[in-house]
Amino acid sequence: QELDLKLEMLEKGGYDHFMLKEIYEQPRSIRDCLRGRIYPQQGNVQLGGIKEYADKLRNLDRIIIVACGTSWHAGLVGEYLIEEYARISVEVEYASEFRYRNPIITEKDLVIAISQSGETADTMAAIELAKEKGATIFGVCNVVGASIPRVTHAGVYTHAGPEIGVASTKAFTSQVTVLTLMAFYMAQQRGAITQSKLIEYLTELDAIPTLIEKALKTNDKIKEIAAKFKDSRNCLFLGRGSSFPVALEGALKLKEISYIHAEGYPAAEMKHGPIALIDAEMPVVFIATKHSSYEKVISNIQEVKARGGRVIAIVSEGDTTVKDMADYVIEIPQTGEAFVPLVATIPLQLLSYHIAVMRGCNVDQPRNLAKSVTVE
Ligand code: G6P
Repeated sequence: QELDLKLEMLEKGGYDHFMLKEIYEQPRSIRDCLRGRIYPQQGNVQLGGIKEYADKLRNLDRIIIVACGTSWHAGLVGEYLIEEYARISVEVEYASEFRYRNPIITEKDLVIAISQSGETADTMAAIELAKEKGATIFGVCNVVGASIPRVTHAGVYTHAGPEIGVASTKAFTSQVTVLTLMAFYMAQQRGAITQSKLIEYLTELDAIPTLIEKALKTNDKIKEIAAKFKDSRNCLFLGRGSSFPVALEGALKLKEISYIHAEGYPAAEMKHGPIALIDAEMPVVFIATKHSSYEKVISNIQEVKARGGRVIAIVSEGDTTVKDMADYVIEIPQTGEAFVPLVATIPLQLLSYHIAVMRGCNVDQPRNLAKSVTVE
């Protein structure tokens, strides 16, 4: 038995849980995902798995992304990136809804199916439906040779390595990385981006693993914040733009592993409902980095504070404005707007992790949840 325990410790690489190990693996998993795919100095993105479809990408009018759970959140980030940089219209669908609602799909469409396990039944069914209607299907999967990558026409693996914790962490950031690469690849193929911009963006993307290393250094501070909020019954996560899906993912992580009811919302939608819940008990987590919606998010923070809410804000390093308003701030390194989801996700993963541990929850195997859902 002692040997079993030792073996388990060894597998966890000295971390208390697989989830924490996987959170800390992210600088490496993202490096692995980028390797051989970006050439920053030349402003070049190479995605071998989909290169035969370059022509298709040049003539595309619409992309439909299908996924479930955390992978669906990655899809939402992908929507912002692909629309912004490649200027192709994107729809993101829950695979379970898409498969049953007689969707309009034609041979011109590209469907991107995102799945860590590559085995999710609903995602698989959505692919089969789209394939029957003649669409081209790309997969973004982590498990090599799983069912989904076998039925898709082409795809890009995330190369995050095995993910054991049921709550997805490193697989999510790798999915976002692949979608970022796809957005730039499509932009490049379609001439939607200048070479100098591409050089600039790829150089920034190349540095993201290092910035994530820095973001991980917020761990001790986050642990202190977690101790203050561990007994909360509800929690709200708010963000705008591509930080909105980050808010959704932050909320999902918290509810999955700590069983605290949490919701993610686009910050401006707060006034259409969630604002009614705000009181001195409920933590409101904002993603308030210095990007295009910064000023707007600040007004949303003021609205929460005016109602006596307690604010935890993820801010850009050196921010003083939000610091003066929020109850707690977590500083993350400043990045270009395209890369905020990759960095801002890190403190949210750590926050859920510590809260769950403090509540005595089974972090790696939360009740009622499965790593891979192969039934409907
Ligand atoms: C399950 C897992 C989630 C995952 C979802 C989709 O619910 O617990 O972590 O996001 O399935 O899984 P997939 O393997 O398709 O990404």
